[in-house]
Amino acid sequence: MNIQLLNKNISDIKAEILVEFLTPDSLKEHSEVGILNQAGFKAEQDSTCFLHEKGLLFCGTDSKKSDDIRSAASSMVKALKSSNYENVAFSVIKNSSLSAMVEGVILGGYEFNDYKSKPKEITLKEISIASNELDYEELKKTFDEAVIISNATCYTRDIVNKAPQELNPETFAILAKKLADTNSLECNILAEDDLKKENMGAMLAVGRASIHESQLIHLAYKPANPKKVISLVGKGLTYDSGGLSLKPAASMVTMKMDKAGACAVLGMIKSASELKLDVEIHVFIGAVENMVGGNAYKPDDVLVSRSGTTIEVRNTDAEGRLVLADVLTYAQETVKADGIFDFATLTGACMIALGQYTTGVMGHSHKLKHDISKAASASGELTGSLPFNKHLKKLLKSEIADISNVASKPFGGAITAGLFLDKFIKDENKNKWMHFDIAGSAYTESAWDCNVYGGTGAGVRFMSEYLKNI
Ligand code: BES
Ligand code: ZN
Ligand code: ZN
Repeated sequence: MNIQLLNKNISDIKAEILVEFLTPDSLKEHSEVGILNQAGFKAEQDSTCFLHEKGLLFCGTDSKKSDDIRSAASSMVKALKSSNYENVAFSVIKNSSLSAMVEGVILGGYEFNDYKSKPKEITLKEISIASNELDYEELKKTFDEAVIISNATCYTRDIVNKAPQELNPETFAILAKKLADTNSLECNILAEDDLKKENMGAMLAVGRASIHESQLIHLAYKPANPKKVISLVGKGLTYDSGGLSLKPAASMVTMKMDKAGACAVLGMIKSASELKLDVEIHVFIGAVENMVGGNAYKPDDVLVSRSGTTIEVRNTDAEGRLVLADVLTYAQETVKADGIFDFATLTGACMIALGQYTTGVMGHSHKLKHDISKAASASGELTGSLPFNKHLKKLLKSEIADISNVASKPFGGAITAGLFLDKFIKDENKNKWMHFDIAGSAYTESAWDCNVYGGTGAGVRFMSEYLKNI
């Protein structure tokens, strides 16, 4: 399926079917209102109605705002994919909604068919957007950027969706190296021997029972005169069985998605390098598999992290924070960055706190929180604040080590996880760091907005927007 922007009027484009986006108000004034009424079409958000004999498809939307248009464009592409049309055209409404239209089409039209022996045949080949005499050059820039960001989001989804027998820490490192080669990024990979030399005791413990070696992956995009240096850190649990604190059967299903933070930061460096942003970007990934076995790390173990901080393990299912503790320390020691952002499917509690659609955000800097929230609104991703709390912090106290890997009370789990990470952020970096819990937003088992079953690519759009604005 190809999407293109044409410097033409919609009436000059030859397409089998033309699409119109209608609000309930604009429906009332439409020349086809009679027949659309008969068909029961009320222009409700995400509803669609074909008038085949006239070559028209109508898509309902609550408003012409970006968020509604993105969702309506997703419904449009789904309706077209289950028809037999090959090419379709519609008009730009205005510049601000062009990115949303492109995202709706590419993200709503996404499918993951790697494991289907006979993928469904799709006839839809060409989607044309008419610029309708608006400023073509400006629109083209918006269009090209939206295509890059949407494709990077699909790249992230593709990796999240890969099965854990195919994607393990070792194959993840190969995949990252391939991205580095394609996008001319620097790449350094530390396997277990290197990680031992680097004293990554917390990260190594988590991966010890796996047959696959844990990997620390460092990629860098270095433009000539960068305005800022940004480090992006990703939790890359290619599988989280829970370890000896084994997950119940039903909770273990979908835990291939525990690598979504790592997949997201790969999508971000892909989009930043293709957008040719003037920002130096470093990606650090802890790729690890949390399994059971005779040599598994145990509740009651005390780990010595790279920073020297000792950690009492009280639950081996709170493994992401152990991996991130070491990777965050390594990232801070390796690169002096202006911003350090970590992405992790860290806690089920984040979904309880904010719902499954929203990324949890934790950080000390008001300015960073404000800038991120602005970028998220512009991109159509949902973020919500997880506030620091000194009373919750006390719950991480350990009687025998410097800190416990779980809180002593079960409430506020998303915040206590973030507070655990905070312990590994150096004082001089406190105001540069932000933690993003994407446990709910990174994966879905039912379609919503422009997301379809599986990985959503959460984080890629809002971080691309944030990085563009630096
Ligand atoms: N990977 C999980 C968090 C998760 C749960 C992500 C559901 C996506 C969906 C994480 O490693 C985990 O198991 N966290 C525990 C922490 C607890 C033991 C303190 C959790 O959330 O239950
Ligand atoms: Zn876990
Ligand atoms: Zn996990």
